Parts: sequence; C-alpha cells; structure tokens
Amino acid sequence: MCKTIKSKILENINSVFIATSLDGYIADKNGAIDWLHSIPNPGNLDMGYIEFTSRIDALVMGRTTFETVCAFDIDWPYKQPVFVLSNTLKKIPEDYKNKAFLVKGLLTDIIEKIHQKGFRRLYIDGGATIQGFLKEDLIDEMIITVIPVLLGGGTSLFSELPNDLEFECTGSKVYLKKIVQNHFRRIRND
Ligand SMILES: NC(=O)c1ccc[n+]([C@@H]2O[C@H](COP(=O)([O-])OP(=O)(O)OC[C@H]3O[C@@H](n4cnc5c(N)ncnc54)[C@H](OP(=O)(O)O)[C@@H]3O)[C@@H](O)[C@H]2O)c1
Repeated sequence: MCKTIKSKILENINSVFIATSLDGYIADKNGAIDWLHSIPNPGNLDMGYIEFTSRIDALVMGRTTFETVCAFDIDWPYKQPVFVLSNTLKKIPEDYKNKAFLVKGLLTDIIEKIHQKGFRRLYIDGGATIQGFLKEDLIDEMIITVIPVLLGGGTSLFSELPNDLEFECTGSKVYLKKIVQNHFRRIRND
C-alpha cells in the first residue's frame, strides 16, 4: 500500500473545535452560552464547523456538555457516536441510546478502546474534558474561535498544566469582520 495512504488510514488525532470569549471562557458565570451568538450571523455562516465535523469519526464529551446538548430544543446534532465521560451518570437516557455511550477510567485506556472500535479521529469537547486531555498531552489540534466579548468569569477553557505544551498556528481567519478563528497544531519533538 502507498505509504501516504497507509499513514492517513492509521492516523490518530484528537481535535478541539471550540468557541471562547475574549477572556478565555467557554460558558459564562451562569453556565450559559447564549453570548456565542452575540454577533449577528444573518447567513448562518458555520465558520468551518461542517468541514471539521466531516473529518472526525467520533466525539468524546464531558457529562456537562452532553447534558447541555440534550437540553437544546433541536434534533440530535451528531452523526458520529458520542462517548460521554462521567463518573456520576449511571446510564445514558433512553432517547440517546445507540447515539451516546458512557465511558470512564483512565483517558489513555478510554482512547485505546475507542481506537479499537475503529474511531481514530476524535473531537474532544467540554472544558474539564479538554483540560484533562491537555494534562496528559493528548490534544493534537485546537481550532479556537474567539467571540469578542469579555465575560469576566465563567468556565475556563484552560487550566494549570504540569508543563508547557507547544503549538504552532497553522491558520487564522476572520469571520463576519469580528470573530477570529485560529488553528493550532501541537508540536512534538519526539
Ligand atoms: N463555548 C463552546 O464552544 C462550548 C463547547 C462545549 C461546552 N461548552 C460549555 O462548557 C460547559 C461544560 O464545561 P465543563 O468544564 O463543565 O466540562 P465538561 O467536560 O463538559 O464536563 C465535565 C464533566 O465530565 C466528566 N468528566 C470529565 N473528565 C472525566 C474523566 N477523565 N473521567 C470521568 N469523567 C470525566 C465529569 O462528569 P461527572 O461529574 O459526571 O463525573 C465532569 O464533571 C457547559 O456550560 C457547556 O455548555 C461550551
């Protein structure tokens, strides 16, 4: 098999696609995310979301984000399986069976099991979840869309890390003349 095709098939990648406030929050002090839509978007520009989700195999999502999505008054928005991280949730609600799956344990073990099911390109979502992945240096790519509002508090995207993690910026776009989106790729020198 051609080397490039083989390496593409075998590629494991953990990606983040998330929006933050200017001061780095993903939810406000009340846990709300309505400020994400504070910039008028009359043409419903998806800002790269459709392209991004077309190249992922599955999601790994924290319990809080899962419950937030379940509470939206919309159809289930994901085509791919969603693995929900939780130590407290006893089971996935009936409506989401066959769409979402409960997982817990060490992140490295969870990822290995997901890979064994054939899902290699993972969308990692939720603040505490992303922070947990970063603590173990398990994030390869981050696409961060910055909404120009200062919230002054809330749920932070980032937290303390045991050591520096270096990324390079591989792209930057401005949407609606107000929103900046940066693509970062983890640089590993090993
Ligand atoms: N701005 C955006 O684009 C964006 C995107 C996604 C989410 N959000 C918002 O961000 C907020 C959610 O963030 P969050 O920081 O609360 O985090 P989260 O990652 O969604 O959920 C945290 C929960 O996930 C579970 N969890 C995380 N890591 C785990 C692990 N290693 N093992 C077992 N369980 C684990 C725990 O659930 P248990 O407590 O059940 O053990 C933990 O309390 C929500 O308000 C959501 O709407 C915003």
